[in-house]
Amino acid sequence: MPISQVAPARPSRLRQTPALRQLVQEGQLAPRQLIMPLFVRPGRRLRQPIPSMPGQHQLSIDALLKECEQLQRLGLGGVLLFGVATHKDAQASRAFASQGLVQQALRALKARLPRLLVLTDVCLCAYTSHGHCGLLHGRRRQNEAPRVDLPGTLRALARTAVSHAQAGADVVAPSDMMDGNVAAIRHALDAAGHTHVPILAYTAKYASALYGPFREAANSAPQFGDRRGYQMDPRNAEEALREAQADLAAGADMLMVKPALGYLDIIYRLKQAFAVPVAAFNVSGEYAMVKAAAARGWVDEPALWMEQLLCLRRAGADVLITYWAQQAAQVLQARTR
Ligand code: PBG
Ligand code: ZN
Repeated sequence: MPISQVAPARPSRLRQTPALRQLVQEGQLAPRQLIMPLFVRPGRRLRQPIPSMPGQHQLSIDALLKECEQLQRLGLGGVLLFGVATHKDAQASRAFASQGLVQQALRALKARLPRLLVLTDVCLCAYTSHGHCGLLHGRRRQNEAPRVDLPGTLRALARTAVSHAQAGADVVAPSDMMDGNVAAIRHALDAAGHTHVPILAYTAKYASALYGPFREAANSAPQFGDRRGYQMDPRNAEEALREAQADLAAGADMLMVKPALGYLDIIYRLKQAFAVPVAAFNVSGEYAMVKAAAARGWVDEPALWMEQLLCLRRAGADVLITYWAQQAAQVLQARTR
């Protein structure tokens, strides 16, 4: 066909009205895809604001129950529990105590809201006196990098996961980034009769500067050194594929990428390569940045977080773990009415 007879492309034709835009929308965002991270702390009737995360709170168990009732009404996909521990030791023994904070919270939640999906973070950093995600060898010298006791760490992680499952966790999500964690947890869960409890593996968790507000919220910052010996280097993408392969071979049911927004390529590549459910963790620093800019009037807060969540979906994330989950579900629910 001679070029003169070809009609010029006019892509904006399908953008002219809300009805047309809706017809050709590719992505969907629904409350059922959103997971709200929640911090549970000791005490009663406490809703302690987290300064670096405006709008987020540490909740005592009774306050957690109230919060979760609302979240369930919004049709959220679930909640992800983090414990803010007060007792810490070198063995992280409160991580797997049957009367631990998360374990008590799980029993209370399952009694009150049996249908709400409850995921738990499985890690040791909130429970170790040194704040690392694993148990460490020996005494450190000045400026020495932490040396992880891997067998001891895997045993503690496995015990923690089993204690969560025993208390009613629907899904366990190990965030420690220790080699062999998924295999150790899968074996221990199966041996304890929890063969049905899925593992959401923090497969590609990067050593990021975006976890600062979380570490304040969970009181889990490392007391010396950093986490680069076990979390991934932000330069690396192929390594994420190898991590994913290992996690899936060990029995992971879902994969996670964390942080989310700087790592859209990793989300995309994992989804393309493995065709399993992929979760994106839109982390505390990503939340705090939007809040800080909005407080100065520099950005439109709800427009910005909605755009960011849609971008995560476009990249291929099936599940969005985000501190915006409650607000987003409210907006989405209002739209469908
Ligand atoms: C603990 C853990 C962290 C986060 C989730 N689990 C912090 C870290 O690894 O230092 C970060 C979550 C967030 O920033 O929102 N292993
Ligand atoms: Zn940790």
